[in-house]
Amino acid sequence: MSLEVTVASLRLKHPVMNASGVLGNTPGGVVKLAKLGFSAIVTKTITPEPREGFKPPTIVRLPTGGLINAVGLANPGKRTIKELVSVAKKLNVPIIVSIAGRSEKEFAEVACEAQRVGADAVELNLSCPHTEGYGLELGADPLKVRSVVESVASVTSVPVLAKLGLSDRVVEAASKALEAGAEALVLINTVKGIYIDVYALRPVLTAVYGGLSGPPIHPIAVRVVYDVYREYQAEIIGVGGILDWKTAAEFIVAGAKAVQVGTALVSNDRIVEDVLEGLRKWLQYFGAGSITELVGAAHKA
Ligand SMILES: Cc1cc2nc3c(=O)[nH]c(=O)nc-3n(C[C@H](O)[C@H](O)[C@H](O)COP(=O)(O)O)c2cc1C
Repeated sequence: MSLEVTVASLRLKHPVMNASGVLGNTPGGVVKLAKLGFSAIVTKTITPEPREGFKPPTIVRLPTGGLINAVGLANPGKRTIKELVSVAKKLNVPIIVSIAGRSEKEFAEVACEAQRVGADAVELNLSCPHTEGYGLELGADPLKVRSVVESVASVTSVPVLAKLGLSDRVVEAASKALEAGAEALVLINTVKGIYIDVYALRPVLTAVYGGLSGPPIHPIAVRVVYDVYREYQAEIIGVGGILDWKTAAEFIVAGAKAVQVGTALVSNDRIVEDVLEGLRKWLQYFGAGSITELVGAAHKA
């Protein structure tokens, strides 16, 4: 019985990676992610120049479940990619560098640096919901998605993953990303929301809008994976609200070959072990030899 998967040409010992933004922005964070057992490490989104991000509070736990964040793409800039990649290489874990920019040129610039220093793949963040000029407007416009993916795919030879967020045209955006050369789609980013302090009479986050993550967005993310897989049978990495093996398995059945975990990492250091143990028992239940037999099973039933 095997949990091995190949996604975007990366051979992984199992399908569970971390989601960009939680831990992967320092060498110590990369070490911690490797220790937690992820099969590949995804860095925090990196832009050409360092960004400070928004003033606190930037990450808030919601009474309705999950988190809302507006970190503002705070990151140390492209010159730190080399160190993050070299730490992952020493630990023998594939590393995917998440990148963003304000233009095609900036995306291509960071992707070239990632390739130069030995990254295994790049993940294009086309969907940050709270940072002007970097965000959702980009991923919600299928033609812009195509032009950013094309510009990166034409200057790099590493696999390109396109990460999209929730929008009315997400299925169309997915098709343009694939046409333009994305080997896999990462679905979905956080969902734009507002959390209000009813005594202060204003939004809690300094940025007003934030990205909702965790269990509240899980059924939305599964729906997007399901719809995109149904149309294109594409290689998909499902992300949003995974908290145990079952929430991960739902993504697989909807059509994802692999999954990413973000918010659950904040409170559960055993999340990878828990998910893998549950997935193994689940495969046994079906007498399946490989997890790939269950990818997209909901479309065959
Ligand atoms: C604190 C925080 C920071 C994040 N930063 C990024 C980021 O830099 N780039 C990105 O593509 N997604 C970022 N995300 C989104 C996650 O990668 C993921 O798509 C989303 O949180 C849904 O997954 P989850 O419910 O497992 O957290 C961030 C999420 C959180 C909670």
